[in-house]
Amino acid sequence: MEKEKLHIIPHDHKIGREDREKLLKQKGHVLWFTGLSGSGKSTLAGRVEQALFSAGHHTYILDGDNVRAGLNKDLDFGEQSRKENIRRIGEVSKLMVDAGLVVLTAFISPFKEDRQTVRELVGEDRFVEIFIDCPVEECEKRDVKGLYKKARAGEISNFTGISSPFEHPENPDIRVQTHLYSIEECKDQVMSVIESKINIA
Ligand code: ADX
Repeated sequence: MEKEKLHIIPHDHKIGREDREKLLKQKGHVLWFTGLSGSGKSTLAGRVEQALFSAGHHTYILDGDNVRAGLNKDLDFGEQSRKENIRRIGEVSKLMVDAGLVVLTAFISPFKEDRQTVRELVGEDRFVEIFIDCPVEECEKRDVKGLYKKARAGEISNFTGISSPFEHPENPDIRVQTHLYSIEECKDQVMSVIESKINIA
């Protein structure tokens, strides 16, 4: 239904993002980790969060498996559900950026269009796309959760990389290769790009 029909009139509150950012001494951002299941999104997001936290930043991680156990537990892995998953995470991230936080998201987010929509929603200057570029063969070899084996056996349908597509980002802000570099090296690579963006001059 259109906004007008619902009679929604947004309230302009006195305290805004810039006020909160001044207090928190940082610029709110979304660090959007995208990649296959088992590519290392959650691990790297967690390591980057620790580094930011140690540097005095206010952070929060939104993680696919966790969010799907709560807010998004009504969604499956069909195309429409995945789109809705990312749409909701985009909206939650936007609120968190408005709160002045550095949000790290770890979702497969397989569709280019959905990632682009979130970038536009949050704002180009507040969104950093981090592509965890790890080949499916390596993710399958790791198979930390045993899901690739199940997908191959036909026990899981629409499994990303096996029976459901992953659209590679063409121009990610950061491209990390977790199969070639250590977690510390990957963390340093991300930090070298984001630190100056987040710090208030
Ligand atoms: S997304 O595609 O909608 O962005 P999301 O990141 O929320 O996916 O969830 C992915 C996680 O759900 C995977 O890491 C895996 O543990 C689990 N999972 C369960 N079924 C599937 C599936 N069919 N495809 C991919 N991941 C799945």
